[in-house]
Amino acid sequence: MSLTSRNVNLKSIPDGMPTLDNFEIVNVDVVPAKDGEITVRNHWMSVDPYMRGRMTGIKSYADPFVVGEVMTGGAVGEIIHSGHPDFAVGDQVVHMNGWREVFTDNVDTMKAMGLRKIDTRMIPAQAYLGIAGMPGLTAYAGLYKVGEFEPGNTVLVSGAAGAVGSVVCQLAKADGGKVIGLAGSDDKCKWLESHGVDSAINYKTTENLSKSIAKAAPNGIDVYFENVGGAALEAAINNMAMFGRIAACGMISQYNNAAPEPGPSNLVNIVAKSLKIQGFIVTNYQNYAAEYVTKLGQLMAAGKIKSEETIEDGIDNAGTAFLRLFSGDKQGKMLVKLT
Ligand SMILES: NC(=O)c1ccc[n+]([C@@H]2O[C@H](COP(=O)([O-])OP(=O)(O)OC[C@H]3O[C@@H](n4cnc5c(N)ncnc54)[C@H](OP(=O)(O)O)[C@@H]3O)[C@@H](O)[C@H]2O)c1
Repeated sequence: MSLTSRNVNLKSIPDGMPTLDNFEIVNVDVVPAKDGEITVRNHWMSVDPYMRGRMTGIKSYADPFVVGEVMTGGAVGEIIHSGHPDFAVGDQVVHMNGWREVFTDNVDTMKAMGLRKIDTRMIPAQAYLGIAGMPGLTAYAGLYKVGEFEPGNTVLVSGAAGAVGSVVCQLAKADGGKVIGLAGSDDKCKWLESHGVDSAINYKTTENLSKSIAKAAPNGIDVYFENVGGAALEAAINNMAMFGRIAACGMISQYNNAAPEPGPSNLVNIVAKSLKIQGFIVTNYQNYAAEYVTKLGQLMAAGKIKSEETIEDGIDNAGTAFLRLFSGDKQGKMLVKLT
């Protein structure tokens, strides 16, 4: 049987904000799995902000994408041919061969990148790319292991209506925190407040972000979950409580800068308030995945945490989905539905 796939190649390295011209859809033939391989039809693929860092041609904590080659990223799909005893036709898997419809790859290579079977009876397949996957574990690791969150803490979350931020907000609320969220539209703020966030601030329209945070958290912030950087970080530092912790997860406001921006002008507060700032990468917290999934299951069953998704249809719209991460024109986890 002849198989074909449409793949998304990196066509060129973006200069500042990415555009659709940086992506190219190509048709490829796929050879069905031989010994040690599986062939997978992807149903969902993820677009994530970290992929912007892989489009620079420069090695960071992940290897750069290569111009003229297919991009990679999280995806879930169904096995349609198997040459490996651990996997059968019909198994659903999560893996890192995204940005393509169909592919054949070596199982050992894929396992090294996180290939695993998923159970879709209780949790929908696409949630393994969001709340039950990498973004969810990022939220958990950053809040509890890096931010050292404790019940009763006041937590400030930037990018609060995003894939990671929305999970941070709900976890902190479920565990007795007071939560203040920063988001880029009134609709996102309304959604946050409808999910228990004590105070949601539209950082684009508020006159003075630092004062708005001070009003929402008069006793200061114990944990700042940093997704955005720039003005949000400066406003957060102004409002940190004594011995506060900043879990530096990402700084999306900086990812498309052509030149580095000056840092916050108020870093002296780190000394005066005895603050801790720690960056982290979720791949170094995989050992907490089982602990997180157990907690997530309990919270989901109790109706205390919900997944929010924005979906683009078809591989032709994968580039558009990616650009929506930077325009902010989406809510919760941004996904592409491939079948
Ligand atoms: N450390 C790790 O291991 C790890 C893992 C996963 C993600 N991350 C990081 O976590 C952060 C959130 O990731 P995510 O997957 O949850 O993405 P996301 O929040 O679902 O999507 C990105 C959001 O960022 C906001 N944004 C975009 N450009 C902005 C700008 N210039 N200034 C302020 N806000 C901007 C937009 O929301 P608004 O409309 O609210 O502005 C947008 O919806 C990112 O920085 C990402 O790199 C880190």
